[in-house]
Amino acid sequence: MYPSSEIYGGFGSGYDFGPLGVELKNNIKSAWWEEMRKRHDNIVGLDSAILMSPKIWEASGHLTAGFADELVECKKCHKRFRLDKTYRGRAYVRCFECGGEVTKPRKFNLMMKTFVGPVEDKASTAYLRAETCQGIYVNFNNIINSMRLKLPFGVAQIGKAFRNEITPGNFIYRTREFEQMEMQWFCKPETAPQFFEYWKKERMKWYLQLGIKKENLRAREVSQKELAHYAKRVVDIEYKFPFGWKEIEGIHNRGDWDLSNHSKHSGQDLKYEGYYPHIIETSGGADRSFLAFLVDAFQEIKGGRSKTTESVKEVETVLKLHKDLAPIKVAVLPLVKNKPELTKKAKEVHKLLKPHFAIQYDEVGSIGRRYRRQDEIGTLFAVTVDFDTLKKKDVTLRDRDTMKQKRVKIKDLVKILKEKLEN
Ligand code: GAP
Repeated sequence: MYPSSEIYGGFGSGYDFGPLGVELKNNIKSAWWEEMRKRHDNIVGLDSAILMSPKIWEASGHLTAGFADELVECKKCHKRFRLDKTYRGRAYVRCFECGGEVTKPRKFNLMMKTFVGPVEDKASTAYLRAETCQGIYVNFNNIINSMRLKLPFGVAQIGKAFRNEITPGNFIYRTREFEQMEMQWFCKPETAPQFFEYWKKERMKWYLQLGIKKENLRAREVSQKELAHYAKRVVDIEYKFPFGWKEIEGIHNRGDWDLSNHSKHSGQDLKYEGYYPHIIETSGGADRSFLAFLVDAFQEIKGGRSKTTESVKEVETVLKLHKDLAPIKVAVLPLVKNKPELTKKAKEVHKLLKPHFAIQYDEVGSIGRRYRRQDEIGTLFAVTVDFDTLKKKDVTLRDRDTMKQKRVKIKDLVKILKEKLEN
């Protein structure tokens, strides 16, 4: 990850995902999409616009006090702080930065404003979406009609959302631009409580199946006074980050809040067979999951795991990412660099595997160092081409987690790796 606009000193606490980061993030999003679209029945997808009619945000309650944080300002250094749990009680008294007196809290709306078209006035004011789900609600009739859906059914969407957070922080945990993975489950009102329980379990299972350690994940019932303006009931799925237990996904019972409000404001009937379906929402953050998967997979081993190379006694880093999430699945390494016959063969093996797997070729540094580098980025397998390869047409296949190596024939490599990666 790189700080956004780094050469200009960074911007708005944003981050850019680098070459490996984008692979990991895409793998997380694909795992979620597969889960929703393929593992569950009756879920369709959507990709709605980021810029939508501002009327949507009036109807949803986001332009009113419902979607605002309490903000205090230091009278001395003029820094502004969010009056959330961390600051409660103390911020009234003193500023965190300089110890100055702070103002009384006031409401600060989190919607990001922009203008659509050439004139910058009230009539052209629009907002970047603060949650992806509103695009789903306003397309409720379109989706039902074009897909001939019957209740219950779900609509899944992944996309960027924006909030003018007062205090972004904890790396990518809280940013102003982030990506959500949201699924809206439309059901009969009387079935909503049971579907809430179902989706809570399913979402917990998803994180565990992708390798999150059980002791680092919990579901927390959110108290009535903490509930978002649209919610009847909320359970937060929380991860134990180094900076404490924090929400990575919310399971929300939104009742008929959204469909009834959009009906009222748009004048369109968004009822299904004469009533408003209730909505159970699973709302996760791709960036927060990214951070959780990364932290959970990160291991430092003092003295190293290997007893045979020069890196013995160094701290060894291994990223034990789940096979579906690892950015690189296979690395191809010639045993030594300066032997043209070895590098030529290794490049042939690389070419053979490339159409099938996310792969990296590396010939720089000792073989021990290259294994370390691949372990550090979570690469699952290393294929090493050595002098025996030239005679016997086989290679060593090294496993990231066990570090065990075995010889396999080049002609069998694709099949063997596919079996390991797909099961
Ligand atoms: N549609 C419901 C909704 O947006 P939310 O609890 O406000 O609910 C859902 O957000 C998820 O979106 C959070 O659990 C988190 O993963 C992610 N999220 C929200 N605000 C974020 C921020 N400022 N930075 C990063 N992720 C954020």
